Amino acid sequence: MMHRRFSQQVIAWHKQSGRKNLPWQTNVTPYRVWVSEIMLQQTQVATVIPYYQRFISRFQDVKALAEASLDSVLQLWAGLGFYARAKNMHKCAQILVTEHDTKFPKDLTTLQKLPGIGISTAGAILSFAFKQRGLILDGNIKRVLSRYLMIEGNLNASKSQSELWKLVEKLTPTQDCAAFNQAMMDIGALICTPNTPQCANCPLQADCKAHKVGQETDFPQKQVAKTIPTKKIFMLILENDEKQILLDQRPPTGIWNNLWCFPICEKEQEITTICKEKYGYTLTEISRQKPFVHRLSHVHLLITPIYAKAHASTVMEATSKWHDVAYAFTCAIPKPVKMILENALSKTSIKK
Ligand code: ADE
Ligand code: SF4
Repeated sequence: MMHRRFSQQVIAWHKQSGRKNLPWQTNVTPYRVWVSEIMLQQTQVATVIPYYQRFISRFQDVKALAEASLDSVLQLWAGLGFYARAKNMHKCAQILVTEHDTKFPKDLTTLQKLPGIGISTAGAILSFAFKQRGLILDGNIKRVLSRYLMIEGNLNASKSQSELWKLVEKLTPTQDCAAFNQAMMDIGALICTPNTPQCANCPLQADCKAHKVGQETDFPQKQVAKTIPTKKIFMLILENDEKQILLDQRPPTGIWNNLWCFPICEKEQEITTICKEKYGYTLTEISRQKPFVHRLSHVHLLITPIYAKAHASTVMEATSKWHDVAYAFTCAIPKPVKMILENALSKTSIKK
């Protein structure tokens, strides 16, 4: 009975106050739902929207995505981070074409076998696109439920995970499942926010345990922060006589794999020898800039940009290219490379 009341309150709230005009909520198709869900896995709605719109207009359906080059997919992903998502999507689109007649399967088991699709993404596709029942448990929903029931401990521990999934299994209705799922995510994102939950506007207020005792922000319980290592790297911004800059394609594994990046090395002293050996260039006007920190989920990079000139415009390696700066902006470049390019434009003679 309690479960039914819970889902009714949530669905009623959705009708009144839920988000209904996000770009992926109009013209709903499995493809559009899938693209949005993958982008939203580790990125906020406001950041996702422009990326989503560019992606959808460039790759209008599964077939277009499957036929595109990985580089062109990464190009549209550049700046969003967690690039494995883009690689998996590309692979998934190709599997859909070759093994599923270019259509998304309509059952959980088959969906979950596709690269990049876990239970929650499958749950979103089933509920939003196919109007079936599907379960979703993302970080926002975990926060709501942990407050609602004052669930203690580390929510990512396997014991809490299975407790939370069991709860979602019980709470998720068959009728209006899409409205329920969307509302749970919206409540997590808009009402039950990390630091200042708006309990007065929350449909769950009457039964919420943490709210009853005024301990909303004590849940989910804080985890001891992981210490994330810092790694120093040097990025070499090489300019040739034609005012082009050199980009290297990163190898297929490791940080920013397959993306285009300035040459990177870990020791400053190595720069001149590497340039000589790898590219055959002698550098002049070497100038070291102030280091800055770029945070990735597993490592904090302390990046020192080093500007230098190289009097050559040919490269031997297929994975290195000289580009005009304006063109470099259109490549699949990670965020710090984009920041350095923008900075370079404002400071140097290089023109966009
Ligand atoms: N996060 C994941 N899926 C979402 C959706 N459909 N709407 C808003 N935020 C989301
Ligand atoms: Fe979150 Fe407050 Fe709603 Fe409880 S009543 S679920 S703490 S917003």
